[in-house]
Amino acid sequence: MGSNLELVKYQNFWFLTTPLKNILHYQAHFKARDSDIILASLPKTGTTWLKSLLFTIVNRTNPDHQPLINKSPLLNNLGVYGGNPLLPSPQQLHDEPPSTLRLLHSHLPYASLPESIKSSSSCKIVYIARNPLDTFVSQWHWHANLLKNRVGDHDELEPPSIEDFFESFCQGKFPYGPYFNHVIEFWKQSLEQPNKILFLKYEDLKSDQVVLQLKKLAEFVGFPFSSQEENEGLIKDIIKLCSINNLKDLEVNKNGFMNKFVKKKDFFRKGEVGDWINYFTPTMVERINNLMEEQLKGTDLSFDSSFIPG
Ligand code: A3P
Repeated sequence: MGSNLELVKYQNFWFLTTPLKNILHYQAHFKARDSDIILASLPKTGTTWLKSLLFTIVNRTNPDHQPLINKSPLLNNLGVYGGNPLLPSPQQLHDEPPSTLRLLHSHLPYASLPESIKSSSSCKIVYIARNPLDTFVSQWHWHANLLKNRVGDHDELEPPSIEDFFESFCQGKFPYGPYFNHVIEFWKQSLEQPNKILFLKYEDLKSDQVVLQLKKLAEFVGFPFSSQEENEGLIKDIIKLCSINNLKDLEVNKNGFMNKFVKKKDFFRKGEVGDWINYFTPTMVERINNLMEEQLKGTDLSFDSSFIPG
């Protein structure tokens, strides 16, 4: 791939070679609990945003919590696979007291999730999907930043050209890709198991449907809003608290690294729908639209690529 990523194909999806060891460990050993909430997504589809929303929703009655103010949402979850020293290790995860509500996150495709998540526990899965055009643009920026942060360590690493990166994206060759296989698997499962998997779209959360979406989310994870909470404007407060402009400005998100090469601030870029219009040529739009049409045919799932920012 024109992006210098070391990828390996496993169970029909592409993985970075380094985390694969942890993934295999989790597939074999992770024990989900009935009360777990698993947040699933492809990278750069709004994972951090959904983490913030979920964390705030489930902790809203906890008087000891000042959600998100003192702790970055990036750390307010537990990775389903480890490998990041800032996140809990498999043993720490296992040792969490049974009363702890575990919010876990995974980029794994549905088929590769540990069996205890899929079948032997009644834990809930919330999936967030984002249109492929903005996902691609966000991934491209992310990747360019990663390489920029590595300068000095690997001076020979060139940021990928957008053309090369697009080619790889369309071929599905990027971490946790192919895009459509990942999204469609979760979409189908959400239709087959509506009590187990909730499928959300980034674009709906950015639209005037957001209150409705949050009510659906809170109810699904077992923390429904009361009419009193709604009337008091709590849902709107949560939306404001978790807005990108608010999160971006918090000290806990502005400074520091998630690991050697990943800066926390890089998780908060523009956070808009339709930024792709600034990057896509007509040929790229045609190619992705054709792919979308071909891949989503017969699924009832669609993403709008006709958005023109005002
Ligand atoms: P952009 O690069 O398009 O701005 P992830 O959390 O899955 O890594 O996704 C990152 C994308 O979500 C980035 O998109 C980022 O800016 C956006 N994002 C982060 N926090 C957000 C928020 N609170 N609201 C909306 N988008 C957000």
